[in-house]
Amino acid sequence: MRLNCNINGSQYSLVVNSDKPLSLILKEQIITFGENSQCLGASCGNCIVLINGNAALSCLVPAFKINGASILTFEGFQKTRFCHDIERAYSDVGNQPCPQCYASKTIIIESILNKVDKENQNRVSGFQFGAGSNSDMNHVSGANTNEQAARSRIGTGSISSELITREMALSSCQCIETAELEKIINLAYKYRSRRRARRS
Ligand code: FES
Repeated sequence: MRLNCNINGSQYSLVVNSDKPLSLILKEQIITFGENSQCLGASCGNCIVLINGNAALSCLVPAFKINGASILTFEGFQKTRFCHDIERAYSDVGNQPCPQCYASKTIIIESILNKVDKENQNRVSGFQFGAGSNSDMNHVSGANTNEQAARSRIGTGSISSELITREMALSSCQCIETAELEKIINLAYKYRSRRRARRS
């Protein structure tokens, strides 16, 4: 099949078997990809990438599922300012994943932050919908106040432990306790929210 996808910001058009695992495609296209990932069978958890913003084990994703997708490996993610939020949180908490799973866990954290962002955006658009459906200007301004309140709450609550545990299950390495990961993830989200607030 012809596979069109974006990898780390560059567009690729490749001819591959439709069931070829993404991890092998990435190893062929990106020399530095997956130095720690060798199992090819969901055991090591070191081949994790972001596919359209969601973490996935690339050895389990066949080519036909990523046609048109946007893929970010740790090598690509490291060059973004989003990675800096997570690295800053590692440093401030004084803990980080071991060298073996550092790349994968960092990618999973980004996936968690993306999911929380999406949830918050849905919540804010819920308020916007409320405003748009009301013709009375007083009510509209009241709804806008609610929307502002919703926006200001974003980044201040803590991220659900259930979401963190579920996403972290992709990585089998137990080098860092869940409680520490929770601190890191919440801090990274706070930094990201503050940076966005400064920009807007
Ligand atoms: S290569 Fe080990 S889990 Fe994918």
